[in-house]
Amino acid sequence: MTTPSRVMCYCLPDKGAENTLRTPPFAGLRPALHHVFAPGLSGLYDCRKQDGGQMGRQPELLDLFCGAGGASAGYRRAGFCVTGVDSAPQPNYPFEFIRGDALALDKAVLRRFDAIHASPPCQHYSVLAKRNGNAGDHPDLVAAVREMLERTGRPWVIENVPGAPLRNPVVLSGTMFPGLRVIRRRLFEASFPLPLPPLAPPPPLCHTLDKRKAHYGKTCEWTDFVMVNGGGNCSAAAARDAMGIDWMTKREINEAIPPAYTAWVGQALMRHLQGSRDGKKDRIESAHPPLPETAHG
Ligand SMILES: C[S@@+](CC[C@H](N)C(=O)[O-])C[C@H]1O[C@@H](n2cnc3c(N)ncnc32)[C@H](O)[C@@H]1O
Repeated sequence: MTTPSRVMCYCLPDKGAENTLRTPPFAGLRPALHHVFAPGLSGLYDCRKQDGGQMGRQPELLDLFCGAGGASAGYRRAGFCVTGVDSAPQPNYPFEFIRGDALALDKAVLRRFDAIHASPPCQHYSVLAKRNGNAGDHPDLVAAVREMLERTGRPWVIENVPGAPLRNPVVLSGTMFPGLRVIRRRLFEASFPLPLPPLAPPPPLCHTLDKRKAHYGKTCEWTDFVMVNGGGNCSAAAARDAMGIDWMTKREINEAIPPAYTAWVGQALMRHLQGSRDGKKDRIESAHPPLPETAHG
């Protein structure tokens, strides 16, 4: 069991709010009235303190629609300092947290971050909503989120379920990542090049509680692949083990993506940021070419 870690929470500024923060990237935001304690991930949340200021600045990533932090944890693993935004309270979110409407954040706040990830609600695009004919009861936010992210000029990623209107997405699934035991296909659209996804072996047998299935009674929730969703077929503990997440409730984990996915995306994003930085440096250097050698040496 890991030690509980303290997590700072922030709220979006109210009209006439007093006591707003002055330090970037939170300048203009109001500290929440409470600090929360989250189990798991001890020591990960405060990346500014983590390297004692010795290793230089870590890039800041804003995770919009962060839920309890499955995507955030992967970016943290890839080396980002992560801040999450969600409209619902997220007492188990393991990093710095802003409560508010992700679509109401203004460009100046968004631009304080080096990169932005967004996982807008997926119910509108899900197979279930299409089957039930009630997609219209759920918000359709992908286009609005993309437009907002494009305006920031920062590199961005949008994640969603198959069926969502993402452009040229890379599809990731649990079978691609050793250690995961969950079939959970998710699409990732990025404003920068993503590499080809890892090879996926053929879908394995999935644990079942359905007595009509031929493999009923022959699988185990601790060793075989499981389904992690509202219906589900496994205990909360087995779901956590299968997804590589040890700090969420079952309800939270049903909504989450395995951190392994965004650790993979985050590595590509980190390379992209490093490339842009080096590119900028090259451009600055070529604007000031070294003085030609003269006869005087
Ligand atoms: C699919 S969950 C995100 C899960 C998360 N990516 C993870 O891996 O754990 C979507 C989240 O969007 C939040 N949400 C819905 N509308 C929102 C809005 N307008 N602004 C901010 N968050 C919102 C919900 O509260 C929910 O936590």
